[in-house]
Amino acid sequence: MSTEHAKPLYNAKNPFQATHTVNIKLTGPASEKDTRHHEISLAGSGLTYEVGDALALKATNDPELVELTIQALGAKGDEPVKVKEVEKPLREALFRDYQIHFIEKKFLAKAAEKGAAKLAELLKPENAAALTEYTSARNASRDYVDVLREFPEVKFTPQEFCDQLRALAIRLYSISSSLKAHPESVHLTVATVRWNAHGRQRNGVCSTFLADRWSGDTTAGVFGQMQKHFRLPEDPNTPVIMVGPGTGVAPFRAFLEDREATGAKGRNWLFFGDQRREQDFFYRDQFEGWVKNGLLSRLDLAFSRDQAEKVYVQHRMAEAGAELWKWLNEGAYFYVCGDKNRMAADVHAALIAIAQKHGGKTEEEAKAFIEEGLMKTEKRYRRDVY
Ligand SMILES: Cc1cc2nc3c(=O)[nH]c(=O)nc-3n(C[C@H](O)[C@H](O)[C@H](O)COP(=O)(O)OP(=O)(O)OC[C@H]3O[C@@H](n4cnc5c(N)ncnc54)[C@H](O)[C@@H]3O)c2cc1C
Ligand SMILES: NC(=O)c1ccc[n+]([C@@H]2O[C@H](COP(=O)([O-])OP(=O)(O)OC[C@H]3O[C@@H](n4cnc5c(N)ncnc54)[C@H](OP(=O)(O)O)[C@@H]3O)[C@@H](O)[C@H]2O)c1
Repeated sequence: MSTEHAKPLYNAKNPFQATHTVNIKLTGPASEKDTRHHEISLAGSGLTYEVGDALALKATNDPELVELTIQALGAKGDEPVKVKEVEKPLREALFRDYQIHFIEKKFLAKAAEKGAAKLAELLKPENAAALTEYTSARNASRDYVDVLREFPEVKFTPQEFCDQLRALAIRLYSISSSLKAHPESVHLTVATVRWNAHGRQRNGVCSTFLADRWSGDTTAGVFGQMQKHFRLPEDPNTPVIMVGPGTGVAPFRAFLEDREATGAKGRNWLFFGDQRREQDFFYRDQFEGWVKNGLLSRLDLAFSRDQAEKVYVQHRMAEAGAELWKWLNEGAYFYVCGDKNRMAADVHAALIAIAQKHGGKTEEEAKAFIEEGLMKTEKRYRRDVY
């Protein structure tokens, strides 16, 4: 990350211990979301990045969940456990080293071995669907507290328990700033993940670490994740079309900051959207300012819940299809960032439909133009979806 060819200064084994300097709620008080703008100081680190890159962040777990887990285990928290040959108190290991908010199958198998008959039944091959229902994060979101409370007869020593757990993984975030506009700082745009299950509020580890728990002098490990496939075009005169609803807009704020700082002459077109204009139009002043000063040639907005029918970015693309087709033929790069499962597929389909309608192509020709030509051969269609 620091330069294109040099070895990065920081990585998963040797992250930079950074501080969190800004934490601002971008969504309004009546929003259904809590999307935040975060700034992290890189001062003194030598860590640099390019727009389009992502930041990896190693968070720690919610101390309340750590305490609940210790209680459910019937432990005190100061018992020594070995984590990769390093001895530390159980509390510290659960706070820093392990994923504790979703159960592992390995743990269920061990609990079954220790006498949890219902779990032994669930683990039989013929009950695979029921097991998925029980363990799946999306459906059930059970954590160790839920299971240990459900089967109080099952006892784990602190070490035995830790040996069943998965290591706490880093999370990646698209960088939403340019170093040219904010030297020694990295900005992120993060939707805070919270939900309720089995009578308790559940928290996504890293997004709530950013929203609620990382402040003051506390440091957390970060390093850059180079994303060469998601860079701006090398020629600053090349037009770019950017589709980024929700937090998908993050890298495009970075692109625009960068193009403004370098005085790049290429035209810029942004499609943005979220649920409601009044609550969820984040970075509004900055984006509208860029329309006023001409950096953004076009800003097309899709607020999905401001009317009876859903309006999404791909609907705005279709409305502007003739113009979008013209830009593509003038050599524009097409970027998409955000939700992988639904949005990215629908935007892809909309692009193919535009090539059919405005390029006079059959469906097959349009698909080949977009998927083989634009995406593979010319590499002008770039995605960063998650
Ligand atoms: C390259 C890349 C770039 C990214 N950029 C961004 C970005 O710019 N901004 C951003 O906000 N995110 C971004 N993400 C996603 C981010 O990495 C995290 O996945 C996200 O913040 C959630 O992490 P967490 O630790 O808070 O939640 P986790 O602890 O990982 O929990 C999330 C999981 O909880 C479960 N879950 C969530 N909601 C519910 C529910 N309602 N009911 C039941 N279960 C549920 C799901 O299984 C979900 O996968 C990016 C991901 C990648 C790979
Ligand atoms: N996989 C999932 O089921 C799922 C669900 C939600 C969020 N997420 C993830 O949660 C994170 C944060 O989400 P976010 O706040 O950035 O935004 P988001 O949930 O992706 O929503 C942003 C906007 O996109 C709209 N949208 C929904 N479906 C769409 C589609 N098929 N095509 C185009 N737009 C669509 C939403 O509308 P409406 O909400 O009004 O439909 C909203 O207006 C992301 O990581 C996202 O991938 C995943």
